[in-house]
Amino acid sequence: MEIKRENWGSKTGFILAAAGSAIGLGNIWKFPYIAGENGGASFIIVYLICIGIIGLPVLTAEILIGRTTQRNPVGAFYKLSQSKFWAGLGGMGVVAGFLILSFYAVIAGWAIGYIIEALNGNFYNFTEATSSAVHFNNLVGNIYWMLGYFSLFMLITMIIVFAGVQKGIERGSKILMPILLFLLIILMIRGVTLEGAETGLEFLWYPDWSKINAQSILIALGHAFFTLSLGMGAMLTYGSYMSKKDSVPNSAIQIVFLDTFIALVAGIAIFTSVFAVGLDPAAGPGLIFHTLPSVFIKMPGGYIFSILFFVLLSIAALTSAISLLEVVVSFFVDELKWKRHTAAILLTLIISLLGVPSALSYNILADFTIFGLNFFDLVDFIASNILLPLGGLLIAVFVAWVWGFERVLPNLKEGAEKLFEKYPAIITTWKIFLKYFSPVLIFLVFLHSIGLLDKILNLFTGS
Ligand code: TRP
Repeated sequence: MEIKRENWGSKTGFILAAAGSAIGLGNIWKFPYIAGENGGASFIIVYLICIGIIGLPVLTAEILIGRTTQRNPVGAFYKLSQSKFWAGLGGMGVVAGFLILSFYAVIAGWAIGYIIEALNGNFYNFTEATSSAVHFNNLVGNIYWMLGYFSLFMLITMIIVFAGVQKGIERGSKILMPILLFLLIILMIRGVTLEGAETGLEFLWYPDWSKINAQSILIALGHAFFTLSLGMGAMLTYGSYMSKKDSVPNSAIQIVFLDTFIALVAGIAIFTSVFAVGLDPAAGPGLIFHTLPSVFIKMPGGYIFSILFFVLLSIAALTSAISLLEVVVSFFVDELKWKRHTAAILLTLIISLLGVPSALSYNILADFTIFGLNFFDLVDFIASNILLPLGGLLIAVFVAWVWGFERVLPNLKEGAEKLFEKYPAIITTWKIFLKYFSPVLIFLVFLHSIGLLDKILNLFTGS
């Protein structure tokens, strides 16, 4: 007996869930930092162009594959191509889902753990700038703290996916996303009303074109891609629950808008605060877990704002994690006919086991390295630097060259009649971008992220 496949209850439900996938750790700590470091407003302009050239076209393609086939990534590519090779591309997405969730949940666990630190007022013990780093190292050095919050995060993710598309993911997103937006706006208002907020705004907005070079453009391209959760079938899977009455390009535009908006607001909230209390921005986890706690204790009302911030960070990570687990679950449900409940529980257990060595990479396994990387960094590298760009590249190639526009366009037009009537040029632009620009640019990002591009360029310049 064929069980009827679930659908989103509403168009807004889909948009919020997909935006929830896109808006994650990448928006809250990565975007603000790379923008500040790579030329501020100039970088933001380059980034917006990258979003337009590869983000939006590939996002549209992924959602469209899902909506057309109503399948998980493996089933979707197989249905459209009848080829095992392309089904394997979907399989790569499912594997990426396993891998990414296993380490994403480690960082998300820190975010939850820091809500408790904030509630306990532990940041107030920090007397010097270094003590927050020491405190952080003590926490991640404690395997019970690490594994405890990691497991808690996996459990919450599981419960939501277990409850299903409408009752779990959609309902969860409809509650969590407005809270996320609300918290972020409060934090932004706090930031810009601090004395000395201008320095932070300057760091973020001051256009410095001298910092724009091949390197920063590749960073912008790679981030445009990562922040929209592209390349592994997450957007494809969410698209597979979408109604044919709704417009794919309109939805893609709204998702991109929300994702970009949140990244910019997060940048303002964070840098106005960091600079107002006279600290230096740091990279990566250091910014969030070392610098920000010291920022909060110096600002009026910091106790409350520190709690709100880590709640915000946890929510952002949760709605992304849900989409990762859903990719894996949908594959086992569609193709192997598992029940959703069994799939959600068993797969969460397996992913959690895989995550254990990543969590331990910060303590007892710190010295255990493969190719010079600890387990956490290795899994991150394989997923983010190899599988995601390769997946994105092949998705663009698949839609433009294998599925073929004469078959693609009738599907794209379904639900989007009004948009295309008004702006027929969108179709031509999308075709050109997807056919030529996206594959070439993603390929360059891929070479760059595995460290080959620099070597090739050096051959030519002879350095
Ligand atoms: N977009 C997420 C972020 O900005 C991270 C991410 C990348 C992701 N690829 C994904 C999330 C795939 C879910 C699915 O943090």
